[in-house]
Amino acid sequence: MTLRLGVNIDHVATVRNARGVGYPDPVRAALLAAETGADGITAHLREDRRHITDADIAALSEQLTVPLNLEMAATDEMLAIALRHRPHAACIVPEKREELTTEGGLDAHALHNRLAPMVAELGAARVRVSLFIEPSAVQVAAAVRLGVPVVELHTGRYAELDGAARAAELRRLADAAALATKNGIEVHAGHGLTYDNVAPIAAIPQVRELNIGHFLIGEALFVGLGEAVRRMRDAMDAAR
Ligand code: PXP
Repeated sequence: MTLRLGVNIDHVATVRNARGVGYPDPVRAALLAAETGADGITAHLREDRRHITDADIAALSEQLTVPLNLEMAATDEMLAIALRHRPHAACIVPEKREELTTEGGLDAHALHNRLAPMVAELGAARVRVSLFIEPSAVQVAAAVRLGVPVVELHTGRYAELDGAARAAELRRLADAAALATKNGIEVHAGHGLTYDNVAPIAAIPQVRELNIGHFLIGEALFVGLGEAVRRMRDAMDAAR
């Protein structure tokens, strides 16, 4: 089965917002990524709008020729925005204002009652709902109870660890991917992935999509975004 690459363009907006000007344009980056091997584009509209803005989501919704995956917190404001734009997919993530990036997965078990109506409303609007969860049996079971079509497994811990600890985390990811698939849930993965650590994740047979951002935008400084996306695609395909 093919492995899709979703390119997260949040940090193009981070660079733009550092100066409060109109460039670099995340939509231009998204279009280039799509031309050079991205199967989809991911953007996280954070509550504090520190990178992607409402106008970016509107422009991406209008101009993209590949599916948009909107990352969003489980709030009423974000639900209304998602229902307005109806992206191909919405990935519900935990969000804390003070964090540098999404730290840890969504506790889909504890948040069941908050998530259930959101999952239902997004599903009714034909938005493919994904939950960004830790690779644990408890979280996969919670996703099954919520009836979501997709989970995205958080690879942040895997990316930070090394040696035996990384190998153990990789097993947790593989086990969670197998359990989700057995229950009819499509599996995506992402966070902290680079050329050097992507292969073992890409080789998990049940994983259908990887969402990768920060590394690619950094690498683009040296080789250009198109080339960075192409190389990541090659690394993923080689591991498959
Ligand atoms: N997937 C999700 C749900 C995320 O929140 C993020 C970070 O915004 C990513 C993937 C991409 O992570 P990174 O930028 O570290 O590649």
